[in-house]
This record gives sequence, C-alpha cells and structure tokens, in this order.
Amino acid sequence: MEKFVINGGKPLVGEVTVSGAKNAAVAILPATILAADKCIIENLPEISDVDVSLEILGDLGAKVRMLGHNTYEIDTTHVNCTAVPDDLSRQMRASYYFLGALLGRFGEGQVAMPGGCNLGPRPIDQHLKAFTALGAEDVVECGQVRVHGCGLKGTHVFFDTVSVGATMNAMLSAVLAEGQTVLENVAKEPHIVDLANFLNMMGADVRGAGTDVIKIRGRKALHGCTYSIIPDQIEAGSYMVAAAITGGNVLVKNVIPKHLEPITAKLELAGVVVEEYDDAVRVYRAGDLLATKIKTMPHPGFPTDMQPLMTVLLSVAKGTSIVTEGIWENRFRYVDELIRMGANIQVDGRVAVIEGVPELQPAPLRASDLRAGAALVAAALSAKGTSEIEEISHIERGYERMVEKLQGLGADIKRVKKPASAMPEAL
Ligand code: EPU
Repeated sequence: MEKFVINGGKPLVGEVTVSGAKNAAVAILPATILAADKCIIENLPEISDVDVSLEILGDLGAKVRMLGHNTYEIDTTHVNCTAVPDDLSRQMRASYYFLGALLGRFGEGQVAMPGGCNLGPRPIDQHLKAFTALGAEDVVECGQVRVHGCGLKGTHVFFDTVSVGATMNAMLSAVLAEGQTVLENVAKEPHIVDLANFLNMMGADVRGAGTDVIKIRGRKALHGCTYSIIPDQIEAGSYMVAAAITGGNVLVKNVIPKHLEPITAKLELAGVVVEEYDDAVRVYRAGDLLATKIKTMPHPGFPTDMQPLMTVLLSVAKGTSIVTEGIWENRFRYVDELIRMGANIQVDGRVAVIEGVPELQPAPLRASDLRAGAALVAAALSAKGTSEIEEISHIERGYERMVEKLQGLGADIKRVKKPASAMPEAL
C-alpha cells in the first residue's frame, strides 16, 4: 500500500504534458473487438484502467503487443470468448463497454453487473434499452449481466437521460447491425466524438457525434486501423486548477483548447487567467481568487469530473461560492476531508455552499474516488506543510505518472510505502 506525501505551499511553475483521455481509451479498447483485425492505438494513457482493459482483451483471446511508450497493437482476429472474467470486470466500471462490443461482433456478451459506487447509484438501464431496441435480450443473474441476440437490426432509440456510457455502448452495438440506427438525446462529450472517429477509421458509418442525434448505418464488417486518442480534458483541467490554487504559472501542453472551454470559462470567473494557444493553455492568477457559482451538467456544460477540483479552488476564493452537482447523487464525500483542512463548506444534498477561507491547512487525507483524490492533491499542494494522502490507487486509475508530472512543476510530492504496522486504521 502506498501513499502520497506532499509538502505544499509552493507555486507550481513550468510545463506539463497531458496524456490520452481515460474515458475515450476505456471505450476505444473494447471497440477494437469489432474490427476482427489489427488496430494500433496511440496516446494510450499509462493508467490502471487501461491496464485492466488490455488484460480483459488478452483474456478474451486478443493478442496485445506494446509497440512503444503509450502505443499498443491489438489483434482481435482470434477473440474466442464472450464473457469478461468476473475479477477483471469488477475492477473497472467501464468494463460494460465490452458488452456492446461483444454483442456487436458475436451477438452475445457478459460482464459483472455494475453496482452503485461512491458517486451514488450507477444504473445501466439506458445501455440495456439500446441493446433490446436492436433486438437483443438481457439477463441479469448471479451478479452478471448477459446480452444475446443474433442478427441485430437498426432501430430508433430515444434515451430517457443523457448518458455517456449508454451512448457509447449503443454505438458499439449498432455499427455492425443491419440497417440504420438513430440515437437521440445522446451525450456530446469529446470522448463520444473520439469513439465515433475511431469507429469510422475502422470503416463504420457514424454521423452526428457531438450533437444530440447520432445516425449509424450498419456495415457488414469493419477493419483494423491506426488511431491516436485525444488528450484528457479532465487531466488538463486538474493541472489548470493545481496551477491556479498554488499561485503558480503553468503551460499545460497537448490539449484541445475547445474541449477545455467549459472549464476555462469558470476558471476565468474565479479570477484565473487562461491564455489559449493552438494545443496548449497557460494558467496563472491575476489577483485573488473570486467566488462563483457552478452547476455540473452534460457537455458542453461544466463537467462533473471537475467538480471536486473546482470546489477545492473555491474553498480559498474570496466570498461565498455555490457548487451544484447535476449528474451524480453523492459526489461531495471528499468535502469532509477539506473541512479537516480548514475549509468552510456546507453540503445539503447536491449543493455545496463554500465560504472561502484564506488558506487550507495540511492534514492526513484519504482519497474516496479518482477525482476526489486529484482534488485532495491540489488542496495539499496549496497547504503550507506536510499532508499525506492514502488510497492513491483511486488516483492512479486515471492519472498517468501524476507524481513525476507534478515534480516536473517543482512540487514537493513523493509516493511512499505505508509501513505495515500503520496499515490497520481505527474507523
Ligand atoms: N444513468 C442512468 N441510466 C443509465 C446510465 C446512466 O440513469 O443507464 C444516469 C447516471 O446515474 C447519472 C447520469 O445518468 O446520473 C450520467 O451517467 P453517465 O452514464 O453519463 O455516466 P457514465 O458513463 O457511467 C462517464 C464517466 C464518468 C463521468 C460521467 C459523466 C467513463 C468511464 N466514466 O460515466 O467519469 O463522471 O460519464 O460525465 O466514461 C471519472 O472519470 O472520474 C468518472 C466518474
């Protein structure tokens, strides 16, 4: 078991390069199954969710070969199994993308049924709605969800709620179905467009990704291709917040500034300067941080995955800020940790009212999920003194080499092993 030890209070200065997008990678890797051929995927982030996805592919019969840093060749020609091993699928919620991909190619697929998580209930009814509309049946038993249905037929799906996962899964299952599929009220996140671009590179006919309606003309077969994953919007936003809260000056490189607009707009309202270049943004503070109001929403609204980071930033902004969580029922669990650092935050359901304090104090901390963990890192970087963050495996699911990247910006952060005697904790 490891933890981060952070000696905060130093401005971050320098340049940091953003890795490939986690939430695109975890859909594009299963999508390679649809090619029944070799795909080369570039700009894959080195994170544990990608490791799990590659392991699942190998277990299903794909040949996975590392070609270089962040580049893998995946040959799915001989995939011969349609059930994702339980232990692997339970390590990562996004293993549900294997359902859509396996259903699309083989007419059947099985993964562990996802339960709720730290963010609240995580139903997959909209994923199943799309599969059944295409002609598949689903069975949930013994903790597994199995979908099966040969000869899927193009259909019309109007989603009851805007869902990233259901939109992606519907695309995966429809690209090889016979005829046209129309998906309405879909998610529009950059990773939806990235998956559509990847599917089209494999020969699929997916149009409209990035708008509310996606139209797919089913193809008889797809083929391999070489594809580079987009930069991670949330990783970029995390370094932008870390730069701002430490009063630093950071050039965040390998970004698509258009994807960052919802984040940039709110940072500017909070008194942060964001200079845009072709594929980079420079972030620094003009003066004091200012209070603001934020509500998380599906893209192009403010992303929920940035909510914990913005709450940290606003906890040291002058005045009263209000943050409303519009996507997840339970995404303020980390606030208790911030209160232990001296933050003045009151949470009522999905709303957090933040009275800015001059600064946060160091403390022993525990990450409750991926973005909460990243937010605590930003908080600890700003607090003068030594903070320790436990349960960093959450953070390493989605941030490539975070310690090294922060050290490159001058942060005093290290990953240390927790001594065995310190492991049992009083609750
Ligand atoms: N929902 C349903 N039914 C469904 C699916 C979703 O009611 O069948 C509800 C959810 O309960 C939630 C809302 O719809 O209230 C949105 O959920 P969505 O399906 O969009 O979320 P997701 O696909 O499970 C992805 C990201 C999350 C990110 C959300 C929202 C991946 C692997 N995960 O989850 O990322 O918060 O979209 O943008 O893409 C993270 O990276 O830390 C993370 C949690």
